[in-house]
Amino acid sequence: MQTYISGIAAQEGKSATLKGWLYNIRSGGKIRFLLVRDGTGIIQCVASQADVGEETFELIDTLTQESSIEVTGTVRADKRAPGGYELVMTKLELVGRAADYPITPKEHGTAFLMENRHLWVRSRRQAAILRVRHEIVRAIRDFFDDRGFVLFDTPIFTPAACEGTSTLFETDYFGEKAYLTQSGQLYAESGAMALGKVYCFGPTFRAEKSKTRRHLIEFWMVEPEVAYLDLDGDMELAEDFVFYVVEQVLANRREELDIIERDTSPLEKIKKPFPRISYTECVDILNKAGHPFQWGNDLGGDEETIVSSQFESPVMVHHFPAEIKAFYMKNDPQDERLALGFDMLAPEGKGEIIGGGQREDDYDMLVKKIQAHNLPLEAFDWYLDLRKYGTVPHAGFGLGLERTVGWICGLSHVRETIPFPRMLHRLKP
Ligand code: 4AD
Ligand code: MG
Repeated sequence: MQTYISGIAAQEGKSATLKGWLYNIRSGGKIRFLLVRDGTGIIQCVASQADVGEETFELIDTLTQESSIEVTGTVRADKRAPGGYELVMTKLELVGRAADYPITPKEHGTAFLMENRHLWVRSRRQAAILRVRHEIVRAIRDFFDDRGFVLFDTPIFTPAACEGTSTLFETDYFGEKAYLTQSGQLYAESGAMALGKVYCFGPTFRAEKSKTRRHLIEFWMVEPEVAYLDLDGDMELAEDFVFYVVEQVLANRREELDIIERDTSPLEKIKKPFPRISYTECVDILNKAGHPFQWGNDLGGDEETIVSSQFESPVMVHHFPAEIKAFYMKNDPQDERLALGFDMLAPEGKGEIIGGGQREDDYDMLVKKIQAHNLPLEAFDWYLDLRKYGTVPHAGFGLGLERTVGWICGLSHVRETIPFPRMLHRLKP
C-alpha cells in the first residue's frame, strides 16, 4: 500500500511504502540520506548498507536527481528531520532512471527556468505556489457557493469585445470572425437576470503588447454579478470576498507560505473595512506624494503602486472619470463625468487586483455608449435585450487570479502564479 508523505504521521513506528522521485541525495560514510518527494511533500529517507543490503546500497549510489523510486521502511519521528519524520529504509525499487535532469540545485536564470517550466513546477517553491493558487481557487468557490451564488459558465469564443477592441485575439469561426473572451461579464449579466446572483470563473485573454510584471496574455478571472446591487453593495461584496480569501490562505497554507519565505505580517494586518477613496482623492494623494498626475488620466502601474503603498489593507478607488472606463459602466447621476466603477488595489504596492462597478441599466443610454465607443450595435443586440426586458440596477466585478496569487505569495512577477504562463514572447512549453 502506498503512503503519502503528507499523511506520514499516521504511520509513525510502522512500515510505509512511498512512491515518488529523488529530490536530492547526500552521503555520509556508510549512510545515504535521500530526499524523496511525492507531490504531497518531501521526506528524508535514511539508508544504511546493513538495512538495505549491499546490492541496493550500490544501486543508491547510481541514482540521479528526479529518478522515480519506491522506498519502503519504518517511519520514525525525528525533530531534526525536515517535516519532523524520516524513513529508515529497508527496500528501494528504481521505477525510472532520470537522465541529466536540467534543473540542478544550483541557481538558474529565469529564461532557462521558463523554458523548462514543465519541469520547474516540480521544485519545492513552485509546487508551494501552485498549492496556494489551489487554495485561493477553493476559497473563491466556497465564498460564492456559501452565499447562494450560482456558477454560470460563460463562453470563450465570442462575437464582440467586452473590454475594448485593442486587446482582442481574433480567430476564424467557420468563416465568421470570433474573438477569445476578454471577460465573461456581459454574459454573467444575463445570468444575474436569470438566477439573481451568479459568478463565472475561467480563462480570459488579452492581446496586451505590454511586458510588465502584472500582465499575462491568458489569465483566470472570477466575476460575480448580482441583480439589484449598487456600487456600494458591490464594494462591500469585494471587501468581504478578498478578506475571506486571505483569511483562508493564512489558516490553511502556512507551510507553503513558509517554503516561499513569505513574510505573512502584511497579510495579518489586513482589516475590514478596507479604505475607500474616490479617484479625485487619489489624484490628490499622487500629487502630494510628489508624483504629478492630472485628473482625467488613467492610473498606471506606477500610480497604483504609490497609492496602494499608503495603506495596510487593500484600497478601493471609486468614481473614475467615465471617459477612461468601459462602455458598460453606469454614469454617476450626481455627476455625469464620473462612472460608478471601482478598482481594488492590493497592498504592498502590488496594484490592481479587481475592477468592477455598477452597470448601465438604461436602454437608451447604453445604445449611446456603445455608439460612442465605436462598437457595432448588432453584436450587442442580445445584451441590450437585458435592458429591454425587465431592467434592474446591477453590479459585479472581476478579480484576476494570478495577480491575487502573486500578491498573497509576495511574488514580484505573475509568471510563477500559473502552471504555464502565456506571455508576450512565450508560448512554449
Ligand atoms: O479591470 P478588468 O479589465 O475588468 C474587467 O474585465 C471587468 N469586465 C470585470 C467585471 O466587472 N466583471 O479586469 C479585471 C481584473 C483586473 O483587476 C486584474 O486583476 C485582472 O483582471 N487582469 C489581468 N491579470 C493578468 N494579466 C492581465 N493582462 C490582466 N488584465 C486584467
Ligand atoms: Mg481594470
